Amino acid sequence: MTRFARNYLCLLSTLSLLFLSAACSTMQPGKAAIASADPLATAAGYEVLEEGGNAFDAAVAVAAALGVVEPAASGLGGGGFFLLYRADEGDYRFVDAREVAPAAASRDMYLDDNGQPVRGASMDGPLAAGIPGEAAGMAHLAGNYGRLPLERLLEPAIRLAENGYRIESRALLGLRFRKQTLLQSPAFAAVFYPEGVLPKEDTLIVQPDLAATLRRFAEGGFDGFYKGDTARLLVDGVRAAGGIWSLEDLASYRVVEREPSVTTFSNLRIVTAPPPSSGGVALTQMLNLLSTYPLAELDGAQQKHYMVEAMRRAYRDRAIYLGDPDFVEMPLPMLLSRDYMAGQRVSVRGDRATPSSVLDGIDTDGGEGTQTTHFSIIDADGNRVAATLTVNTWYGAGFMSPGTGIVLNNEMDDFSIKPGVPNEFELIGDDANAIVPGKRPLSSMSPSFLESDRGIAIVGTPGGSRIITMVLQAALKWYEGGSAWDMVSMRRFHHQYLPDEIRHEPGAISEAEIVTLESMGHTVKPARRPFGNMNVVTWDFDSGKVEAATDPRGRAEGRVY
Ligand code: GLY
Repeated sequence: MTRFARNYLCLLSTLSLLFLSAACSTMQPGKAAIASADPLATAAGYEVLEEGGNAFDAAVAVAAALGVVEPAASGLGGGGFFLLYRADEGDYRFVDAREVAPAAASRDMYLDDNGQPVRGASMDGPLAAGIPGEAAGMAHLAGNYGRLPLERLLEPAIRLAENGYRIESRALLGLRFRKQTLLQSPAFAAVFYPEGVLPKEDTLIVQPDLAATLRRFAEGGFDGFYKGDTARLLVDGVRAAGGIWSLEDLASYRVVEREPSVTTFSNLRIVTAPPPSSGGVALTQMLNLLSTYPLAELDGAQQKHYMVEAMRRAYRDRAIYLGDPDFVEMPLPMLLSRDYMAGQRVSVRGDRATPSSVLDGIDTDGGEGTQTTHFSIIDADGNRVAATLTVNTWYGAGFMSPGTGIVLNNEMDDFSIKPGVPNEFELIGDDANAIVPGKRPLSSMSPSFLESDRGIAIVGTPGGSRIITMVLQAALKWYEGGSAWDMVSMRRFHHQYLPDEIRHEPGAISEAEIVTLESMGHTVKPARRPFGNMNVVTWDFDSGKVEAATDPRGRAEGRVY
């Protein structure tokens, strides 16, 4: 098909967003691109693409390598979401590899006898860890969508674990920040504090136990991780240190394929994460509320005012209604309907902030973190992956079961440990997100595809509660005609209902806009650290150009092949 014909098809598709994916599925970019948080992980993905692998193979290789070289953010001890697009079928898959609460977990497990949260209990040590899902997600991708064997896909990660990688300054920040907790896990300390002290930048970190774990996984697939030696070592280590995992918890872990969330904003279509992520619901709500404002014609302060009011209302609903869809009934038809947000819009004044306290709800600067990771991939055939993976906060629970090399997550903190009590990201929740054995904690991770007549953008970022508002701002930037680089480098701001304040990066809101927003009743505060680490791949239908851009806040460079 000529480029003219392809463009014509995609132009036609703007008349029918439903037609878009069908029309564009016949197109191929002819080039591949990967944007991840670490050049070594990007190279791992490239290696398997070179060998004939597709985007799904590359995703497994990148995820595995990130677990070795960016263990503060993700790894075999964590979980995540993989959003897939299969070009030959023109279909979308959402692979939910989120952690689940162990069978011995209970609703009040982090509360003391007086019903008050025990400090650090849902954050530090193995009691904070959910049953990991990332390995099952990788095995699922390789087994169902990839072309190469899992063993081949894990080779780069095994090499990196055996030969070592040089630790960089941001990883050291995490080691310094959580030193007290991390040093309590001798297996963790032996790897990351080689002489018993904080290593210097560029120290070689070698992980023989992790290499052996990866080898067992490579040979046995799902069973090579969730059963046998690895499972035994994990459970023995967790239980010896006060945790509650069992072998059955691991053996019964399953990924779930879910229908992705799809929302539209004018001629922009966003395919993104459904519950147990709050991303798709909140993005839909925010865009529905914003859809009737002429955003492009408004001045900066007015535009931000409406965006903040949309964020406030979406995060209020997140706190009240959202949780694991396999456990809770959520009023999704209501939340996702345009009419519902039209009703919400009635309470938005053009000249005044709505105090969060006057909105019905439950009674937090969120995590600025890079302590999650996102990568975006397109292959030459047009297959796509947007994956956001996490161990939750820096180095998760700060615990490693001896002999495994695996850093365990502290994803249990993403549950609402008590209604109204904020978690690490100052997010609050209610019954919908209460702890139940086997349940997935509510997430903000929002791997997304942005699709319009101009092309495709594959988008996502770490950043805890701020992930969703970062993806919103990226989507609006793309909608306005911005590039991959514009999306990753833009200055960002955030509001999440409670605390009732706008947090912003330097330059995201001008001094004059701050004066105007404050005069409307908004509280505006600078963020302590930069927001996120967004990694984006774009494909422009008109020029055929494929671009990869990585966040200047991170350390990687995107690569196009
Ligand atoms: N652990 C961060 C999230 O899932 O949103």
